Formats: sequence, structure tokens, C-alpha cells
Amino acid sequence: MKILLATEKPFSAAAVGGIKDIVTGAGHELALLEKYTDKSQLLAAVADAEAVIIRSDKITAEVIAAAPKLKIVVRAGAGYDNVDLAAATERGIVVMNTPGQNSNAVAELAIAMAIYMARNQFNPGTGSEIAGKRMGCHAFGNIGKLVARYAHGFGMTVYASGRRPITDPECDYPLATAEELYKVSDVLSIHLPSTEQTRGMVGRSLLSLLPKGAIIVNTARKDVINEADLMAVLEERPDLKYATDVKPDNYDALREKFGTRVFATPKKMGAETAEANINAGLAAARQIVGFFATGDTTFQVNK
Ligand code: 3PG
Repeated sequence: MKILLATEKPFSAAAVGGIKDIVTGAGHELALLEKYTDKSQLLAAVADAEAVIIRSDKITAEVIAAAPKLKIVVRAGAGYDNVDLAAATERGIVVMNTPGQNSNAVAELAIAMAIYMARNQFNPGTGSEIAGKRMGCHAFGNIGKLVARYAHGFGMTVYASGRRPITDPECDYPLATAEELYKVSDVLSIHLPSTEQTRGMVGRSLLSLLPKGAIIVNTARKDVINEADLMAVLEERPDLKYATDVKPDNYDALREKFGTRVFATPKKMGAETAEANINAGLAAARQIVGFFATGDTTFQVNK
């Protein structure tokens, strides 16, 4: 089988080497499309691919139509909002993610961002500490749980709310609603997936509930934030700060208005560690090999 690794933001050489070993070791062929700059390159590369490994690369209906042999897409990572699931399902293409494989990298970044903002982006002047403060995790999946564990290490108390009732011991105070969570979160860390239900969910009605001096950290997705509301609330509440790994469309305007009260990484870097590259990349390769060998669909997200 021809397996394409299509990564606009490439994995490390070590991860690519590991993926290649797994794929060729199982008798398949690996094709590489890295750092591509135009959709046409992806459309051409998928033409003869039976499987594709991606990161945040967009697998649209157009890409699927250009891939007549495609049987499986594995998103090496957690969020699969970049894959047109309906178009894939219609063609009988299996879509998987690799849950948990890059969670630690993202959780470490969330804590780092909270401290970076508490210390005024390391500018001169008096900052604050996160010890003794309340960490609020909005959604409590693999990443939220790790953030909670690390927050405890820093002496924080952990609150969380999610879609399902939270029973994990890393959460000190499971809360029933997002409203309750936002009211008590000195650091509010967002771990929502991007879905029809969550898009624009974090807007004025939640943000304005935050306690004085709160720091919002978004290592999840850009579109879970209502950007116009964020701008308005930051204007009304000079005590609030916002750090994100997913640059808002209005970032230049935010930065101009609010300076070091806002921060965005230049390019999403939550999963950009050697360890996460290897964990997620190799898991994706193994899942494809398993799928072709035995029909294993354990991590399928479009069942
Ligand atoms: C994920 O959903 O796994 C993260 O957002 C990482 O995305 P990336 O592989 O594009 O860095």
C-alpha cells in the first residue's frame, strides 16, 4: 500500500524515520509531502495514496475526491476538525486520531503560558505567582487531566467542567456548568475540541464571569473563542489577560490595544516537541499498519 505522510508543518527527522521504519517494515511504501505551500500539491500527492497521515492539514471534500484509492486517514494528534468527516464517511474512508499521544506537550505549554502571562511576559515589573491560585480546566480530556496534575505540582487548586460528569482524582472540584467554572478560575485553561456545539462558545457571557486578574489560556482551537467578544471584554476588564497557541484573526488589533496583556504563538506549537512528534507520528503509522493487517479500527472517529 502507498502511505502518504502529508505535513505542512513537518515532524522531526527522527519521527519521520520512525514512521518510515514501521511502514516499510510492514511491506508498505512511504511517500512524503512536507512543508507544502499550496493545496494543489496535496491534491496531486493523494492521487495514488491508499492511506494518509496528517497533522493539522486540511482533508476537505476536494482532497477526498482527488484520492480515489484512499481507505484511511490518520490525524497524528487529537483534534480532527480539519477532516471533512461527512465526505470521508460517504466514501467509506476510515478516519482516526491518535488520542493522548501529544497531550503532555500541550499541557506543559498551557502551564508555561500561564506563568508567562502571570510574569508579564517576562517584562520588568511586579508579576504574580500561580501557587495558591485556582486552575479551571474547560473540558477534562487527556490534556485537561495533565494540566490539572501539573497545576497541583505548582500548588494550585483544580476546578473543571466538561461534557460528562468528572470523577478523575486530579480534579478537586468538578463543576456542573461552564458558568460555575469561569466564576472561580484565576487561570482558565481551554481544552475544548472544535465542534458545532463549541464554536464561539467562549464569549462575553462566560469571559465576563472570570474573577479579578484572571488569565485565559487557549491551547485548544481558535474558533471556540468569540473574538469580537474577547476584544470587548478585554477592553471592559483591564485586569484580564489572554494567551493563546492558536492566533486569533484579530491578533494585530488585540496586540495594538492591549500590548502584553495578550500573547499568541507565531504558529501553533503545542505539539511541537521531539517526544510528541515521535509519539503521535509512530502511533499513526502503527494504526495504519494494524488497519491494513487486521482491520483494526480502534481509534476510528467516524464509526
Ligand atoms: C492536536 O489536535 O493534536 C494539536 O492541535 C496538534 O496539532 P499539530 O499536529 O498541527 O501541531
